[in-house]
Amino acid sequence: MQPVKIKEGIYWVGGIDWDLRNFHGYLTQRGSTYNAYLIIDEKITLIDTVKHYLYDEMIERISQVVDPAKIDYVVSNHVEMDHSGGLPKLLELAKNATVVTSAKGESGLKAHYKTEWNFKTVKSGDSLNLGSKNLQFLLTPMVHWPDNMMSYLVEDKILFSNDAFGQHLATSERFDDQYPLGIIKEEAAKYYANIVLPYGPQVIKALESASKFDIDIIASSHGIIWRSHIPEIIEEYKKWAANEFEDKAVIVYDTMWGSTAEIATAIQRGFENKNINTRMMNLDVNHISDIMTEVLTAKYICVGSPTINNNMLPSIASFLTYMKGLSPKKRTGLAFGSYGWGGQSIGQVEEVLSDCGFELMEKVKVQYVPEEENLQKISKQISKSI
Ligand code: FEO
Repeated sequence: MQPVKIKEGIYWVGGIDWDLRNFHGYLTQRGSTYNAYLIIDEKITLIDTVKHYLYDEMIERISQVVDPAKIDYVVSNHVEMDHSGGLPKLLELAKNATVVTSAKGESGLKAHYKTEWNFKTVKSGDSLNLGSKNLQFLLTPMVHWPDNMMSYLVEDKILFSNDAFGQHLATSERFDDQYPLGIIKEEAAKYYANIVLPYGPQVIKALESASKFDIDIIASSHGIIWRSHIPEIIEEYKKWAANEFEDKAVIVYDTMWGSTAEIATAIQRGFENKNINTRMMNLDVNHISDIMTEVLTAKYICVGSPTINNNMLPSIASFLTYMKGLSPKKRTGLAFGSYGWGGQSIGQVEEVLSDCGFELMEKVKVQYVPEEENLQKISKQISKSI
């Protein structure tokens, strides 16, 4: 387990979670990494740790550079256990280390680990001298938890951004010019859509504050380190945070006997006839976290469910609950579905889309099995209304 040198005296010493497939409900088909960084100066400093079960991997990497017992500071940019899980054991080893964190970080770490450590709390604008290098701190609450902060290594122009700009991506390569950029960007978009999306205003504020830093490297806490494509990922973050999207329709549905699927296809044709790109997302074969990646850049969110026992299908309810929590804004919604007698599901779907603050298109409701003429009418209705 080797460390990876980032700049003189600065090393990646994180853990690679090759087998991770589920990050609290987010399907992580490509695994993940928890990135910890070691700075060698008069004061030896570790930025974040790793998930508890990768502690030994992190220690092995650190030990190639320095005795971990000599660590003076551990900067905790974020309390969440994928970054703090290795902290209790590390502090047993580095007995004199001080934990540098935000005030909310201190209370969050105490609440998680029920223990007193040496804490030094910092605010935005505070600096910490490490010898020849200086860290500056920027509090970034809600990107991703209230405790989040970023740390900027002034002399080396490295922004340790924690969750921001991360991707769930397990690789042996560490930099954005060593791995296919399309995959990195796809995973960065999926990460934003499933983790960061609710916090657009806070992201905008953090981007504004961080713009005063001259940045050579963005060393986030998951996945690949950005050094060659920094302007691109910052531009993407600006767009995502502002809820800017493409002329694209995502059609999410589930079906019992195929009628709602036929309506979904008729709706898809309606968009296609107006040259609007579409994504058909049958919940039977698509995971909600992958659907959210498409929602991130789509204007139209169409959701269809047949009615079962006076309700929408549980799969649709699950997707809608997930999407509502992630809070995409400024979209246009459309509810559709087939029914036998009650037909409550379509109104229920529409209610959630309305709760999301979406502008609504006229809902589409068909009893039992749609006829060809009916399907053509639906396509025309969609084309006309966009
Ligand atoms: Fe990667 Fe919010 O933890």
